[in-house]
Amino acid sequence: MQKLQQTFEYEYYDDISQLNPADAALLQAARAVTGQAYAPYSNFRVGVVMRLANGEQVSGTNQENASFPAGICAERTALSAATVLYPDVPIETMAISYNNLLGNSGDPISPCGICRQSLAEYEQRLHHPIRLILSGQSGSVWIIPAAGQLLPLSFSASDMA
Ligand code: THU
Repeated sequence: MQKLQQTFEYEYYDDISQLNPADAALLQAARAVTGQAYAPYSNFRVGVVMRLANGEQVSGTNQENASFPAGICAERTALSAATVLYPDVPIETMAISYNNLLGNSGDPISPCGICRQSLAEYEQRLHHPIRLILSGQSGSVWIIPAAGQLLPLSFSASDMA
């Protein structure tokens, strides 16, 4: 028997002022785009803005539905938009923020399980890590070097080969 371990490192910043200008601008845009979410049921508005390898920015917000399971998270809305607009262009960095109308928004959130699975496959398909910048409307910021690190031992297409 062997015991194996998987760990990952990520960066912690006290606030947006400690980020480089490009990352700060992306996070600021993600904070702002939460205003375009359609979240009348949860009142939890999530905003994503991504910087692609070609320099373009693509955004996404969560889109809910009266038939609750039909709703989609901001991360997967953004991935769908990117793959339609720029099918073969890797995503360099994705900033994720939220506006919690029911409470505060001072701590980072990280993507849900389904979004982690989708992010991991996008990375694999385009052979490029997706760096994540996570923060609320204010407060601390986490930077994860590659989204797939949030889903260790994940199931992927290669398992079906
Ligand atoms: N949501 C996202 O858009 N992204 C996340 O990472 C977590 C959750 C959305 C789904 C739903 O519309 C609302 O937030 C509450 O779960």
